[in-house]
Amino acid sequence: MSTDKKLAKAEMKARGRPLQKMFDRVPSRYDFLNRLLTFRLDEYWRGRAVRRIMDEKPGRVMDLGTGTGDMAVRIARKSPSVQVTGYDFSAPMLEVARRKAGRRQLDNVHFVEGDAASMPFEDNSFDVVGISFAFRNITFKNPYTGQYLKETLRCLKPGGKFVIVETSQPRNPLVRKVFHAYFHYVVSGLGGRLSGARGAYHYLAYSARHFYTREQLTRLLEDHGFAGTEHHPMLLGASAITVATKPQ
Ligand SMILES: C[S@@+](CC[C@H](N)C(=O)[O-])C[C@H]1O[C@@H](n2cnc3c(N)ncnc32)[C@H](O)[C@@H]1O
Repeated sequence: MSTDKKLAKAEMKARGRPLQKMFDRVPSRYDFLNRLLTFRLDEYWRGRAVRRIMDEKPGRVMDLGTGTGDMAVRIARKSPSVQVTGYDFSAPMLEVARRKAGRRQLDNVHFVEGDAASMPFEDNSFDVVGISFAFRNITFKNPYTGQYLKETLRCLKPGGKFVIVETSQPRNPLVRKVFHAYFHYVVSGLGGRLSGARGAYHYLAYSARHFYTREQLTRLLEDHGFAGTEHHPMLLGASAITVATKPQ
């Protein structure tokens, strides 16, 4: 099958529930490959997002699409007075997250399994919803994006922040070309081979190459009720922290 056909197939798979099956297959090597493919920059980028979250002096934080719990655990370690909820629809990813929190004997973080389309939390529950490298999954050509953003807004307190750390589109055309080539050849090829989950890494590469620009992201968030969107590009715009507010 040609590369384009494979990518088109990955795009089809990205729609809705097939994403869940895709993530169920990757947890054993997920953390290792994140570190390898980003030269550990993923940890630095998550750390920056955590610092931004802590600037809000939150009482309750949700880590949406928590996966193996890296961001949730980091927040919980920063301050025992913050209550952290990691939320994800992949049971195998959450198993890894629970083990990680257990090893560190953290009692201010817990993990809940479920779909972002319908979250089991009261309205106005969280000071901050953070999301690290899962925003693309819930918004890239995903037919449920509107519902996910509506649920996120509902769960945030008025004035609460949605802190997104995600791959981005570098503005400089040359940097963008290099970044896209890296995703196409290295992330998709090497990640697919080493993980044994080719579909997942094709999808990652394809969705990152075609993901939103800053302007499109602002429009998406503000069309769904968020306000005051700020962008903080990192590594020449290869990734970015975006912060949007639930209006009072
Ligand atoms: C690329 S991983 C990111 C994991 C983690 N946040 C990190 O920083 O490494 C995306 C995660 O989002 C979860 N996810 C995707 N769509 C979801 C949905 N609709 N509801 C809940 N979780 C979802 C997947 O199961 C997966 O664990």
